[in-house]
Formats: sequence, C-alpha cells, structure tokens
Amino acid sequence: MERHLADGEEYGLSANELADWGLRTFRANWTAQDGAGGPLSKGNGQPLSDPTSPLTGLRAFNRVSGPDANSCAGCHNSPCGIPGGNADFAASVFVLGQRFDFATFDRADTVPLRGTVDAQQRPVTLQNVGNLRASPGMFGAGYLEMLAREITADLQTIRNGMRAGETKALTSKGIDFGKLMRRQDGAWDVSEVTGLPRASMLAPTPTDDRPTLGILRRFAPRVRKQDFG
Ligand code: HEC
Repeated sequence: MERHLADGEEYGLSANELADWGLRTFRANWTAQDGAGGPLSKGNGQPLSDPTSPLTGLRAFNRVSGPDANSCAGCHNSPCGIPGGNADFAASVFVLGQRFDFATFDRADTVPLRGTVDAQQRPVTLQNVGNLRASPGMFGAGYLEMLAREITADLQTIRNGMRAGETKALTSKGIDFGKLMRRQDGAWDVSEVTGLPRASMLAPTPTDDRPTLGILRRFAPRVRKQDFG
C-alpha cells in the first residue's frame, strides 16, 4: 500500500471509492512497515509465551502457527485469481495453531505454548496442533450477514415485547426458531428454541431483560441460501 487511510478519512469517500480501497487492501502484500506480523504477539493476539524469541527473521513465517501469509488474496483467490474467493487446499489454515508462538514440534522444548507442548504440557502433533480448515469464498457473504442482522432484530423485537408467563413463536422471514417462553417469575425458558447457537441464548441473569444483553443477543444464524428460494 503506497499509503494508508487516516482515521476518519473513510467518511469522506464514496461507497465505490471505499470498495476500491478495500479491494486494494485485500490484495496488497503487507510488509513489516505496514504493520504485518507481530514480533511479540501470537496470531491470537496474546503476548508470546517466550518474548526472548521474537517472531522476526527466520521466525517471521510459519505455515502452521502463523504468520502464514502476507495478503488476504493469498488465500481468498479462487477461481481465476478473483479476490474474495476460496482457495486451493494448499491455502487451508490450521485454526488454533496460532496459540503457539512458533510451532516446531521440538521435543526438547517444554515451555507451554511456545512451540511444542500445549497449555497442559502435552506435546502436540501435526494432527492436533490445529484444526485444518479450507478457506471459504465470501461472495455474497455481506448479504447473508445483513439477513442475519435483520433476523436478529426481528427475534429481539419478539423477545422485548414478552411479559412474564408468556410464550411466543420465534419466526422471522418464514424461518421457524421454535418457541421462547418466559415463566411467571420472569425467568426465560429457552428449552424449545431451535436453530440458535448456545451463546445466543445466554442471559447475564435468568430474568435479565435488557434489550442489548438479552438472551438472543449475538445471534448469527448460518443462513442457508435455500431458505430464501
Ligand atoms: C492462510 C489463509 C488465509 C488468509 C491469508 C486469509 N484467510 Fe480468510 N479465511 C481462511 C479460512 C481457512 C477461513 C475459514 C476459517 C474457519 O473455518 O474457521 C477464512 C474465513 C474468512 C471469512 C469468513 C467467511 C464466511 O463467509 O464465513 C472472512 C470474511 C475472511 N476469511 C476474510 C479474510 C480477510 C479480510 C483476510 C485478510 C486480512 C483473510 N481472510 C486472510 C483463510 C485465510
């Protein structure tokens, strides 16, 4: 990138200019000058387990624990090199490998999460250092995310209108999410809610009804195209 946007500069750009900036950012090969890599932090944002061995020089790249690429398009580029697509199997990632500073599988290394042993001091292998995942294409992902947000708003509106003792059907856009119940004491009963991840059904307290902290917050369904015809 020949230059970076200054904070707030994005508000002065048109939607097309902003999308173009995103495309260039996605394609750019990031350098250390751009801020690529994090010599003293792991890929999960935690400080290195061994800060005396920063991720520089020969330790600046590691296909298993990261940093494992220098552009988004390095992985999201298929078919035909189109930025935002999926990837060849060779560009899969090892999810959770990034909890290690720098995976080495060196049996002489006993420092937890440095390169060989996990947080419980168990040596890891290539099979369990991380979870190999293919890079998905994200064409249309923005529309799915907007749908998920609209569905979230619909479900939260149903929730917000519920008084103690009530049961309501949770539906949005013709999709059935089961029933939400509120007991006489005001506690939520989510035993008949379907299709939502557990994290979306937790409340800070059993009777909490604050709209932003309620039981359906952080709802992000894996909406399927066939649900919308
Ligand atoms: C080393 C390969 C690799 C690189 C580089 C990479 N990604 Fe990904 N990306 C993946 C994989 C693998 C997944 C799926 C992760 C999973 O299943 O947990 C993913 C998932 C995603 C998703 C979620 C797509 C969806 O619809 O669920 C988005 C968005 C995304 N990446 C954007 C980016 C951006 C932006 C960058 C650059 C900052 C980037 N990726 C760099 C491999 C990569």
